[in-house]
Amino acid sequence: MQILDVGCGVGGSTRRLSHETGCYVTGIDLSDEYIDAAERLTDLLKMQDRVKFEAASALDLPFDDNTFDGAWSIQMNMNVEDKLGWLKEVFRAIKPGGRAVLYEVCGHKNTPVYFPVPWAQDSSMSFLYHQSHFGKLLHRPDSISRSGMTRPICQRRHFHKWQNQRVSQTYRNSEYICWSETTY
Ligand SMILES: C[S@@+](CC[C@H](N)C(=O)[O-])C[C@H]1O[C@@H](n2cnc3c(N)ncnc32)[C@H](O)[C@@H]1O
Repeated sequence: MQILDVGCGVGGSTRRLSHETGCYVTGIDLSDEYIDAAERLTDLLKMQDRVKFEAASALDLPFDDNTFDGAWSIQMNMNVEDKLGWLKEVFRAIKPGGRAVLYEVCGHKNTPVYFPVPWAQDSSMSFLYHQSHFGKLLHRPDSISRSGMTRPICQRRHFHKWQNQRVSQTYRNSEYICWSETTY
């Protein structure tokens, strides 16, 4: 099975998925430096036969339509303003019937974000959507209906482990969401 990890960072999520499931996983990330580190770490762990990387934007994936059996993104949406563009690209790259697993940080309706946060120094780089807004995007016929994913499952979690009060405050008021119970 071929899976795409969108916004893979230094490849921890990519390698973990492959290790746990035996899938072939391709990670992409905007940062050349992260991809370079991801490749080095993967070589050190001798996982290069199953795990590959490419520097690319989630908004312009360098893959043909219907290339992957599924995709996942782990906490990557926060800096992406064009969320519909990201979702369309993901579902273009996966085969009809394939699933996308998104485990993402969302904003809270009434609470502002206290900067800096781990993904942004200030509001110019941070684009959090409320969970319900995400849900609406996923149900738009032009974004995902062709993938056959019709049963979003949301999980809400609160984050308490951060020491820094302002970061902690932001996380407590954020929502983590996860669509689809599927593991590959
Ligand atoms: C919080 S890290 C998560 C990394 C990885 N998924 C993990 O769980 O370890 C978010 C990653 O998304 C990447 N990213 C942000 N916007 C992106 C975009 N438009 N296209 C591709 N990658 C992006 C960042 O470079 C960063 O490495």
